[in-house]
Amino acid sequence: MSSFRRDLLAGQVALVTGGGSGIGAGIAEALAAHGALVAICGRTQARLDAVAQCIEAVGGHCLALAADVRKPEALAAVVAAIDARWGRLDVLINAAAGNFLAPAATLSPNGFGTVVDIDLKGTFNACKAALPLLERRGGVVVNVSATMHYAGTPLQVHAASAKAGIDALTRTLAVEWGPAQIRVNAIAPGPIAGTEGMERLAPPAMRAKLTAQIPLRRFGTVAEIGEAVLFMASPASAYMTGAVLVVDGGQWLTGTNLQMLMSE
Ligand code: COA
Repeated sequence: MSSFRRDLLAGQVALVTGGGSGIGAGIAEALAAHGALVAICGRTQARLDAVAQCIEAVGGHCLALAADVRKPEALAAVVAAIDARWGRLDVLINAAAGNFLAPAATLSPNGFGTVVDIDLKGTFNACKAALPLLERRGGVVVNVSATMHYAGTPLQVHAASAKAGIDALTRTLAVEWGPAQIRVNAIAPGPIAGTEGMERLAPPAMRAKLTAQIPLRRFGTVAEIGEAVLFMASPASAYMTGAVLVVDGGQWLTGTNLQMLMSE
């Protein structure tokens, strides 16, 4: 992280679900670097503590609170802790997600439901929990979506269904919560280097082939997703709501087919 010299979000309070690793952690660091007081939640306290230490080591403020987004009461406790500490919440980032590769034919109902529970219902749960604080003075929600549902992506029926639901949820909440001055947008990252998601979804043997199909010929970085979310969380996007911002190096335009990449 660079030292803090920028103040796009000075004095604002942000909550990042899934902030203990990967894209969520990168977003938390980007928001903190621009002056936000950041709370992160996730399932594993040790991971959250490590991210909080990184943020505080360079002068930021971070509250690390263990909570599973599948549990509405745990999220209510997180929001109550934020209210007690800072008395406000301006930005909610829904980055918690779970995924694995599995063909629909052998995926169990519980496997499908688990990913929908984390990604889609978890996003709904966090939005609901945050609403009482967000509506006090208006605010911003950014949901982490994806692009795999723009085409038919094999082995991803669970995650693609959940992410399609997140896009629908984003548009509906933008309409319902707009009058309260709560903007609701989504970001759709492409392949991002060094994340658990890429480790799980793009085995090393597949990465060179995948890279060759990305128009910008490289994976994205966690920092690049953080910067895009910063735009969506800040007044720089003040008239933007209900949008899904694709940040994928152009990958989805080439119709990448995971199964084809793996079998070639
Ligand atoms: N293939 C097929 N089914 C799988 C699977 C896989 N690779 N991994 C899990 N499942 C199924 C399980 O078999 C189980 O279904 P069953 O009860 O019918 O057998 C169901 O999914 C729940 O699995 P479980 O491990 O009990 O859930 P969990 O809550 O502990 O874990 C996951 C959630 C499944 C998303 C897990 O992959 C996880 O924790 N991932 C870490 C976060 C992550 O995915 N990060 C990447 C984000 S892109």
